[in-house]
Amino acid sequence: MAEFVEIFEMGPRDGLQNEKRQIPTEKKIALVDCLSQAGFKRIEVASFVSPKWVPQMADSAQVLANIKRAPGVSYAALTPNMQGFNRAVMAQADEIAIFGSASEGFSKANINATIAESLERFAPVVEAAKDVDLPVRGYISCVTDCPYDGPTPPEKVAEVAAHLRDAGCYEISLGDTIGQGTPESIAAMLEAVLQEVPAAKLAGHYHDTAGRALVNIEASLALGVRVFDAAVGGLGGCPYAPGAKGNVATEAVNDLLVSLGYETGLDRTVLDTAAEMARAMRAG
Ligand code: HMG
Ligand code: MG
Repeated sequence: MAEFVEIFEMGPRDGLQNEKRQIPTEKKIALVDCLSQAGFKRIEVASFVSPKWVPQMADSAQVLANIKRAPGVSYAALTPNMQGFNRAVMAQADEIAIFGSASEGFSKANINATIAESLERFAPVVEAAKDVDLPVRGYISCVTDCPYDGPTPPEKVAEVAAHLRDAGCYEISLGDTIGQGTPESIAAMLEAVLQEVPAAKLAGHYHDTAGRALVNIEASLALGVRVFDAAVGGLGGCPYAPGAKGNVATEAVNDLLVSLGYETGLDRTVLDTAAEMARAMRAG
């Protein structure tokens, strides 16, 4: 039997958060409902961040309240602090994610905190999540390059990953936020992180700015990573990472994985429909 590689769908969150024009809530719900039919186990649909910082995500609770939840699908939400955590619990997110950075410049720009401050701020969130049995995923941004600080030392990524592991994150998603990683820099980063966290608890989250996300995924597969984040239609970017283009497109990752002989469990026809919907949302 073919080995399974999971794609964690990011479109409704990472894909849409950067859109300047407010997308109607109904369209977001329709996109999630379509994605729920594609065979994903996890879909990130919400972000309980400050609506002043990311206005596009202000309707996250309405999205979670109105989607048709498919059995076996975990609907995830970003939670930068306790305020976000409380909103996510109220909205019945199935899992949450804290998000830090391996570079100080991006940490400050994205969440207005140093790396150390952010890790302190995450601690009560993870503790509160444990109390209500809510799984917590951890993101690390700028794992190879930062738009403010330049190249990121692999040891710094490993240090933050070890912290998130100790805090209790069930998986750590490694973000090439501005898509400048190469197979070499991704492999060097992974080799450092693997000293601290086994491949089974890692995910690759690669933006496709320079068109290298797919080769970076291949480099990560070679080192044992079996979960990749992607967004249908290649939507997205990060509002606090200048030049960050979309996540790598789910369809492209799916095709790559299938061509390499992996099983993804995804329905390609549904993916095409969702990608079409996502592109139409961007077009207006
Ligand atoms: P701050 O201004 O330092 O926070 O922002 P604060 O605690 O001083 O609060 C300021 C105001 O925000 C207050 O309201 C709070 O109530 C409110 P005011 O009194 O002024 O009216 N506030 C909130 N409101 C709703 N929900 C909340 C919340 N928290 C505070 N949770 C903060 C700090 C972290 C909140 C802010 O910087 C923020 O929201 N940042 C989020 C930025 C973001 O969403 N970036 C994109 C997601 S990360 C990403 O895309 C990367 C990733 O994909 C991986 C990769 O690609 O690398 C994950
Ligand atoms: Mg991202």
